[in-house]
Amino acid sequence: MSGQKRDGATDSSANAMWGGRFSGGPSDIMTRINVSIDVDKRLYRQDIEGSLAHAAMLAERGIISAEDRTAIEAGLRKVREEIEAGTFRFRPELEDIHMNVEARLVEIAGPAARRLHTARSRNDQVATDFRLWVRDEIDALGDALKALQAALLDQAERHAEQVMPGFTHLQNAQPVTFGHHLLAYVEMVGRDRGRFADCRQRLNESPLGSAALAGTSFPIDRHGTARALGFDRPTANSIDGVSDRDFAIEFLAAGAITAMHLSRLAEEIVLWCSDRFGFIALSDAFTTGSSIMPQKRNPDAAELVRAKTGRLIGALDGLLVMMKGLPLAYGKDMQEDKQPTFEAADALMLCVAATAGMISDLTVRPERMEAAAREGFTTATDLADWLVRVLDLPFRDAHHVTGSIVRIAEERGCTLDALPLEAMQSVEPRITRDVYDVLSVERSVASRTSYGGTAPVRVREAIAAARERFL
Ligand code: ARG
Repeated sequence: MSGQKRDGATDSSANAMWGGRFSGGPSDIMTRINVSIDVDKRLYRQDIEGSLAHAAMLAERGIISAEDRTAIEAGLRKVREEIEAGTFRFRPELEDIHMNVEARLVEIAGPAARRLHTARSRNDQVATDFRLWVRDEIDALGDALKALQAALLDQAERHAEQVMPGFTHLQNAQPVTFGHHLLAYVEMVGRDRGRFADCRQRLNESPLGSAALAGTSFPIDRHGTARALGFDRPTANSIDGVSDRDFAIEFLAAGAITAMHLSRLAEEIVLWCSDRFGFIALSDAFTTGSSIMPQKRNPDAAELVRAKTGRLIGALDGLLVMMKGLPLAYGKDMQEDKQPTFEAADALMLCVAATAGMISDLTVRPERMEAAAREGFTTATDLADWLVRVLDLPFRDAHHVTGSIVRIAEERGCTLDALPLEAMQSVEPRITRDVYDVLSVERSVASRTSYGGTAPVRVREAIAAARERFL
């Protein structure tokens, strides 16, 4: 290609939209690097919505005639119909969704359509369309995340008393209930929803009417178009309006955090349904078999949720890198914002749905959870607390005494509640038979009644409160 002046120009005629000062068409390569229609056709609905609001405002302000407005509106609706019916012919030489819609509009509505682009630019147009798209996506994700919380809460309710080992460092730590564990994710998802809601609130300003960057000399009504499009207000600065993509970055940041949360749950699901843990069984609907090993049931959905987190983090990274150092106002660099955002949003939507499905369908294996909860001396803290409460030992001393008792139990290969009283008394003679009241995993869990704790009575309260707060 190098050395050629105009390598393979596709079209000798200049662009119909902006070709006034051009005598030749773009090279093949130029067309290919510039084109975005395959990606941004996804904005067609928002683009047409924005144009409808703009045309109505232009007519109300006397900038175009009422007849032109009517022709434009009817034409835009026709374009929308064609796109939705799949009969619209997207033309790559028209670059993007904005010019594709407008070119077809001119064909349908005639000369009136050539007035639609008065007092606007593709710069404010795309900024408006993309904000509208992200806003719609936030609303859809909000619903999906709420459904996930509902699925988690239903399982938590079913298993509010189900004992399992709680882990730190993935080592058995203290017994908890499965319901309590699931409620942790209800909280995380609640904050995820909050982050999306914050993002929505900040992005809900209309760039439309910022025009190319400086505003316009026409007497437009930016407040009116903002209202018509469901925005809270117009962006206050026209340069900012066309040049920032922080709303998409913030959306991806919220998405990356959400995906990170989902990946932790996915990883736990993978562990829980493994032969080693055996805490749960996944349904046929969210597992696959192996083509060679007939006995296998693989948690592919969970693994893919775990993996797709990378797309969210990658998209966030990509947009940050794409935007950093860009001088104000618009630069074509920004055209690269949409593909990663669309792909990340699609991946996240799937992950949320798959997670909700896995959670709803999973069945618990109580005997496995309980047996595991008893392993690893998980009630050692309960013993230490008893020594503090009943014998008034300082906690540090109680910790030491308990450590010695655990060592004896370990040597004998038994759990703490199976250790004879004399063995404990060999370490601390004042220990009485009452100590056994606190050494079972059920008692341990039931005793953790502090606010937010794992006692079933608290878990049930927390479920009721979460239903109020989130559903
Ligand atoms: N397709 C472009 C984008 O996504 C639309 C804006 C083009 N503006 C321009 N001045 N060339 O960013």
